[in-house]
Amino acid sequence: MKQVFETQKLYYGFPVFFLGYKDEKWGYNLTTSSSSYTLGHMLVIGLFSGSNACRQIQKHGSFSLNLPLESHMLEIEQCGFNSGRDKFDLTNLTYQQGLTLDVPLLDDCPLVLECQVEEVVEFEQYTNFVARIVHRHVDEKFVVDGKFQSQSFNPIFYMGDGKERIYRYLEEERSDKMGSILKAARKNQRKSR
Ligand SMILES: Cc1cc2nc3c(=O)[nH]c(=O)nc-3n(C[C@H](O)[C@H](O)[C@H](O)COP(=O)(O)O)c2cc1C
Repeated sequence: MKQVFETQKLYYGFPVFFLGYKDEKWGYNLTTSSSSYTLGHMLVIGLFSGSNACRQIQKHGSFSLNLPLESHMLEIEQCGFNSGRDKFDLTNLTYQQGLTLDVPLLDDCPLVLECQVEEVVEFEQYTNFVARIVHRHVDEKFVVDGKFQSQSFNPIFYMGDGKERIYRYLEEERSDKMGSILKAARKNQRKSR
């Protein structure tokens, strides 16, 4: 039996990332975020309209999305609880210049997307940026024979409700290939006929 659950928000598991962007005050800057999805070369992120990240990305029209590891938990919180500060100075995280865009690409993050904003859509107090992924930079240990090693990539997931939000960590290398479940079910069905 389900109940109607009244809550301000219900986040059902989104990977945590650092947004890297050009900052008119600090040169380049960072903000922790978790609202994103991607389809093909499109990537959409959602930001609170009052954040510095939102202002700067709107002004400069580009950003990088950097997937951290569990070893970056302190930096994740430093960049998520210090609005408007110089977060490269605060964290000592280092970066390279973007290949095409004027954005910082974080050295320690194994997966980094260089993104060009194409459309901005506001919803209440939030701003959605629809962007084109211009380059995907991936640590070579996660690419074998031209294939991304999804089964060993462990992003940090952010989830929770209006009362409490938590981080979830992937620990075991448990995975199933897409399509394999249906294939196995069909095979079993044929066997039982
Ligand atoms: C794990 C985590 C996830 C977050 N996700 C988002 C998000 O999806 N969108 C957003 O606007 N802020 C998000 N925040 C909050 C911002 O990081 C926070 O408001 C930050 O101080 C904004 O900094 P800025 O004003 O310097 O950009 C998140 C914070 C944390 C710690």
